[in-house]
Amino acid sequence: MASWPDPTSRSKELYDRGLKVLPGGITRTMPWQEPFPVYAARGEGAYVIDVDGTRRLDLLNNFASLIHGHAHPEVVQAVRRQVGNGSAFTLPTEPEVALAETICGRAASFEQVRFCNSGSEAVMSAIKAARAITGRPKIVKAEGAYHGSYDYAEVSLDSSPANWGGDPNSVGYSKGVPKGVTNDVVVIPFNDVEAAERIIRANAADIAAVLLDAAPSYLGFVQMSRPFIDMVERVTREIGALFILDEVITFRSHVGGAQTLLGINPDLTTLAKIIGGGFPVGAVVGRREFMRVYDHREGKPGLPWSGTFTANPVSMTAGKVTLDLLDQAAIDRMARLNERLVAGLNEAFARSGFPGQVTGFASSFKVYGHTRPITDYRSGFSTPQEADRVAALQRALTVEGFHIARNGKGFLSTPMTEADIDGFVNVVSGIVDAELRRNV
Ligand SMILES: Cc1ncc(COP(=O)(O)O)c(C=O)c1O
Repeated sequence: MASWPDPTSRSKELYDRGLKVLPGGITRTMPWQEPFPVYAARGEGAYVIDVDGTRRLDLLNNFASLIHGHAHPEVVQAVRRQVGNGSAFTLPTEPEVALAETICGRAASFEQVRFCNSGSEAVMSAIKAARAITGRPKIVKAEGAYHGSYDYAEVSLDSSPANWGGDPNSVGYSKGVPKGVTNDVVVIPFNDVEAAERIIRANAADIAAVLLDAAPSYLGFVQMSRPFIDMVERVTREIGALFILDEVITFRSHVGGAQTLLGINPDLTTLAKIIGGGFPVGAVVGRREFMRVYDHREGKPGLPWSGTFTANPVSMTAGKVTLDLLDQAAIDRMARLNERLVAGLNEAFARSGFPGQVTGFASSFKVYGHTRPITDYRSGFSTPQEADRVAALQRALTVEGFHIARNGKGFLSTPMTEADIDGFVNVVSGIVDAELRRNV
């Protein structure tokens, strides 16, 4: 049977059909790779099986959203039951209350929850909430950090030496971003306490919120430093702005999220991915005094917020079962496996002379095609040749039976075993050794 990237494979056939009806042939650009993407047929725990029957270890897990891998039996059973009783109602449901209760039990700052359908929506909603609460227009974000597709949150996501400036410029992400957007986003260098504080204070009176990720994936999961956390908490309090922590990915790092692990006190938190158990979800979570902005009981709220599929009982049910199955022991086990993976790959790179490195946080990792120390967006920034080196490794891994992202990111799931991780490290070692032999 043909397998990817064979031109007679089922994946190629589907891609050709897709090209006629979908721009670029696919809906998400993330899984794109030359010469065409792999099409999934089904998933089983830590593995995904493609339409040609090839089985691969899935280190993508729908981009960090499937903490228990594919089709966990307890999630499947609960979702089947819920779908049989109806999948969406205009009325509120018990699963919505139950998931909110579970989330609120997990971190000190989680007093109330407002659900939505994605992480992008959660970030948009939190920013709008901060504007409504403070009456101010601007947000602060770290250069290079990803927070989804709201155009304010995308500013300076991919700025480059050609346009990033000294203190970071506000660089629009897609074409046609209005000046009003870039004018209302203040960009700071991650973990640079002195520069960030100076830049925030220069805009103090206009700032509604500082939006940060405690370990941004696009910055190689570098952790926010203690002095940086302290500065953000102190300065936001002093200037009357909100501190929004984006835990869309980092919530997997501890039962109470990175805020509990690292001791961070945000005013609002954005969640998504794992809290939907494999179904679309997002949430803004925070202290009661701020969450009042959504409350309709005294007339039109500061931030009216709704949505047709918001808090649908399928996502709520899957999320509740998923979080109930995710205890601290499971999280710690994944972190140990990830340490083994990161150390194993770094040793393999050093041994073979492959010019790369792997960084990680909790159960997430990222492969880089250079060896410069990474402390922020600029130090991690890769040349096209360095990015191609990672994409070539990713392509070879697809052939060998492993899914990671083309930009080198990967995420573990609870069904993964030491044997899965060791198998992955061995295959990467073989690929980089072969690469070395080709180059000598
Ligand atoms: C930190 C962070 N925030 C927000 C988002 C957006 O989430 P979604 O893709 O559910 O819109 C992502 C997605 O990867 C993310 O990593």
